[in-house]
Amino acid sequence: MLPELGFSLLRPVLHRMDAEQAHGLTLRALQLMPHTQPPQWPALQSQHLGLNFPNPLGLAAGFDKNGEVPDAMLSLGFGAVEVGTVTPRPQSGNPKPRLFRLIEDEAVINRMGFNNEGHDALAQRLDRRAGRGGLVGVNIGANKDSEDRIADYVAGVKTLGGRASWLTLNVSSPNTPGLRQLQSSDELARLLEATADARSKLPRKIPLLLKIAPDLDDAALQDIAKRCMGGIVDGVIVSNTTIARPELLSRHAHEAGGLSGRPLVLPSLRVLAKLHQYTEGKLTLIGAGGISGAATAIEKIEAGASLLQLYSALVFKGPGLVKRICDGLVQFSATEGVALHAIVGRRSETFAQA
Ligand code: FNR
Repeated sequence: MLPELGFSLLRPVLHRMDAEQAHGLTLRALQLMPHTQPPQWPALQSQHLGLNFPNPLGLAAGFDKNGEVPDAMLSLGFGAVEVGTVTPRPQSGNPKPRLFRLIEDEAVINRMGFNNEGHDALAQRLDRRAGRGGLVGVNIGANKDSEDRIADYVAGVKTLGGRASWLTLNVSSPNTPGLRQLQSSDELARLLEATADARSKLPRKIPLLLKIAPDLDDAALQDIAKRCMGGIVDGVIVSNTTIARPELLSRHAHEAGGLSGRPLVLPSLRVLAKLHQYTEGKLTLIGAGGISGAATAIEKIEAGASLLQLYSALVFKGPGLVKRICDGLVQFSATEGVALHAIVGRRSETFAQA
């Protein structure tokens, strides 16, 4: 596979560059890539959130903040792509450097701070690809200097709702001061009501997801479970990056920001399994955090995820990882003689204690 070969040649060069520059270069290369027919795994097709997913593995938010390369990422084999986080007005984010590779830990720390080109720029890009097919969700947030954060999410629903396969309310980025406060009971209730109301006025009903942090305690998780049941949102992405710092080897371990990649596997798996239990398996959960191969993908499903997302492992393993994970899921399903939907949550009790 050409991207795979290209990555193994380019990886040493990319990893010697500043991480954000390397990401910029990767986006430019992806923009030039011809959009080929994506690989197909008929055995991995499934229906969730009223949508047909060609396979359960999606690209997590933050890789393509401005919707510049969704079709290139779908060509690599991702079953869906989430673009964003996008805010109403463009903003430059935090001072650089703000993105760090922790090579020894197969992890990333970022404190980007929602650098993005704003709703209108993304709306135009999505309009340009309209009719191309492929699932492209949009992750929305609030401007750093917003005086009414909930109004920023409502604006996202209004401007982008008609252009997205789904919308994700990102209330879990650690890099916008105070944003995670929206996960607390009263604020969350107000956010969910306001965005659900805006969604009900869209010409087409689209799924609304909530994306949560892995750093929530049991009481907060139970509250989120209660609030998300009953149809106000259609699913929850578990999880965003963590502010915790497990033991890390890399010299960048002390950097402030959200940690993702391998050290996030267990914390996010634990929260996913608990939320599966608190929602009695009735809410669609999307597992994210440290997926780096078929084995971690399967663990997420066994903890309670029906769908999956990844980002950080691409930095270390390159674009060929998407195909490897999907091939691995097909092989697992064939060898075990079970469909993936049949194993959703089967080890949630174990992982909730992990
Ligand atoms: C992210 N993530 C993220 N999430 C989000 O909702 N909005 C965003 O803008 C970003 N930005 C972002 C930038 C960078 C550089 C990284 C590494 C991550 C979080 C991401 O979507 C995902 O939830 C976590 O990274 C966990 O998955 P992985 O990376 O461990 O597979």
